[in-house]
Amino acid sequence: MSIFDRIEKLLLRAEIGKPLGRGEIIELLKMPGDCVPELLATADRVRRNDVGNEIHLRGIIEFSNFCERDCLYCGLRRANERLERYRMSDEEILAAAEDVKAAGIATVVLQSGEDAFYDVSKICLLVERIKKETDLVVTLSLGERPPADYRAFLDAGVNRYLLKHETASPELYKYLRPGCRLDRRVTCLKTLKELGFETGAGNMVGLPGQTHEILADDLLLMRLIDADMLGIGPFIPHPDTPLAGIGNDDIELTLRVIALARLITRNTNIPATTALASLHPQGRLLALQAGANVVMPDFTPEPFKRRYDIYPGRADVGPAATIIAGLEKDFRSIGRTVGTGAGNRPAKTNSGTVH
Ligand code: 5AD
Ligand code: SF4
Repeated sequence: MSIFDRIEKLLLRAEIGKPLGRGEIIELLKMPGDCVPELLATADRVRRNDVGNEIHLRGIIEFSNFCERDCLYCGLRRANERLERYRMSDEEILAAAEDVKAAGIATVVLQSGEDAFYDVSKICLLVERIKKETDLVVTLSLGERPPADYRAFLDAGVNRYLLKHETASPELYKYLRPGCRLDRRVTCLKTLKELGFETGAGNMVGLPGQTHEILADDLLLMRLIDADMLGIGPFIPHPDTPLAGIGNDDIELTLRVIALARLITRNTNIPATTALASLHPQGRLLALQAGANVVMPDFTPEPFKRRYDIYPGRADVGPAATIIAGLEKDFRSIGRTVGTGAGNRPAKTNSGTVH
């Protein structure tokens, strides 16, 4: 059988929901570039069938860029003294949440570095105010916290929690995140799932030392923990980190991983990440046609927004309203519309056997 016949057979099986094994996932990650359009098109059909044509918007507020961690890849790392740090006040955060509401978006995502200044009671009070004043669906992305904190967040009305696992290789994880361990991350993700949050995992693609085998394990981990949301973005080197200058301009591999994530997990919510849009002018639209169905416009007000400098060249400068008008136009150009409801993960899949 030629390689092209082999890939076609694998994709046909994947489309109808036959679970892909680790070896098959690796084959698809490594296959010749000529076959990639068919992979992306297959994922696009599964996306349409299982989560529909709507693109769900989530308004993100990056409310603090303080971080106690020292991840080798990230501009917010503690050791980066060149970064001007900020914490937004409750009033500033609330005003930004009102902006999300006014833009007609149903979900607000509150994200920060791992910043103990915002202890559990501060976060809960903030969430309760946001809920009371805007009734938005609230997603938190604050990193690892004890189970009791997660429980309190849930009781305060939080609906979803994002905690990317970053890489499924325990060794690479330990190297890139000094003092941290993959098993602790996975335990947090399992706790979040058990508590009943819609739970987001995800990884970076193109990390130094990452192999196709590790990427396959990323995808299998997402399936294993039954993550509801999958944040998959390219690694972009930051000049003020130890990984400065390590090149990664390959968005094709990220698109392959997004497409495979759709084929493997069927009805999950998968954002076309800002990192993809930052690396390639068409990055976001390409991802939306390769399995992704969510976009997260940034509602962090200036001057804070530019200081949330995770990686350089972040896309989407300018006011949120202008950005959203541009997004809607882009979505129309590929025959898609902006989502109207909360954009929860659908209860079951329409195709295939997974979930
Ligand atoms: N390139 C791409 N993504 C990054 N993140 C952190 N640093 C980088 C980088 N250099 C991502 C991580 C983290 C999220 C907040 O940003 O995946 O979970
Ligand atoms: Fe902090 Fe997250 Fe950046 Fe690591 S990736 S330094 S935990 S903000």
